[in-house]
Amino acid sequence: MAISADRTLIPYNGTRRWRRPAAADQNSSPAVVVPPRRTVPQHEIQSAAPAGRASAAYRAADDRRGKHRCRTRRSRRNEMTDNKPSLAGMVALVTGSAQGIGQATAVRLAQAGAAVIGVDVSPQDETSERVVQVGGRWWAHLADLADPARIDALVDEVTRTHGRLDILVNNAAIDDPVGFDQLSMDRWDRIMRVNLEAPFRLIRGFVPLMRANQYGRIINISSGSVVNPMTGFVAYRASKMGLIGMTRALSTEVGCDGITANVVSPGVTETAMAMTNLTPEFRAMTITKQGIKRMGQPTDLAATITFLAGPEAGFITGQNIMVNGGAAFTA
Ligand SMILES: NC(=O)c1ccc[n+]([C@@H]2O[C@H](COP(=O)([O-])OP(=O)(O)OC[C@H]3O[C@@H](n4cnc5c(N)ncnc54)[C@H](O)[C@@H]3O)[C@@H](O)[C@H]2O)c1
Repeated sequence: MAISADRTLIPYNGTRRWRRPAAADQNSSPAVVVPPRRTVPQHEIQSAAPAGRASAAYRAADDRRGKHRCRTRRSRRNEMTDNKPSLAGMVALVTGSAQGIGQATAVRLAQAGAAVIGVDVSPQDETSERVVQVGGRWWAHLADLADPARIDALVDEVTRTHGRLDILVNNAAIDDPVGFDQLSMDRWDRIMRVNLEAPFRLIRGFVPLMRANQYGRIINISSGSVVNPMTGFVAYRASKMGLIGMTRALSTEVGCDGITANVVSPGVTETAMAMTNLTPEFRAMTITKQGIKRMGQPTDLAATITFLAGPEAGFITGQNIMVNGGAAFTA
């Protein structure tokens, strides 16, 4: 074909059809056209997963393990979309919120925009005042978490009144510094019921609400020191180790529904629990082993818990996060 310089014809899309060059083509040297990339349709990408009988076998195996199957959908609730307070519109429940780490957490979650339900066996007047001071929304429940009937009633009431629960912080706990041969079985049972069974009952009660919204944050408070030999806390430590195991297993069962489950393990933190049950010598010795030479403050824990509760922490699950100034604990 005779082609004059001003009427160059170039191949179009790799076919035998020809087109006249656009002005930009004419200014640029040789007429090389890269065929546009083919966009692979979504249904073809999905069909790359095991198909037919193979995928049915995978599903059956998951069902046998009690696994909730993941649908390939992405929840926009797991992303930050604007500059609103990160927890605006969410409902959080914090146990053991009358004082210490639970109180600081309730205040911090409220500051971040969540409506907070505090549950404690003791009155929560001080927490109420502090939440109101930061402009938060707040409901206080008086309940003994060792009583399964109170937990069922709490789940019913939250479901009826709020119709949702986005964040569950299992923080309430009791301990007993006596030696193992001094620990009565009644006391063992109570420690287990408050520290381990109550978190499980609350999780079981509230996960359906989280699933319905495809968003949930379960944060269980353990203890950084559970792996260290230390006299006199056998039931407490057994319960706190149990929380770590339970959380890790749980994270694999709820992840498909936009729910994360993590443990936060405090080091020695300046609260009534630490000041009553740990000797000044033990507290001082722990601080010398830390990178950051001070006692933890309830607000240190509250900040970590609030981050884990938010949309930006949607890819963190099954973890045990130590907030202990760098103390040499491992778990
Ligand atoms: N303070 C520390 O040094 C430290 C270290 C490691 C882990 N932790 C953990 O952090 C969490 C908070 O500890 P803290 O130091 O703030 O303790 P804290 O004793 O100051 O507060 C615990 C709260 O739980 C409540 N509670 C106890 N039994 C309850 C029950 N049956 N029903 C309802 N509420 C009940 C108490 O009334 C209290 O308000 C606990 O899980 C604890 O094991 C604390």
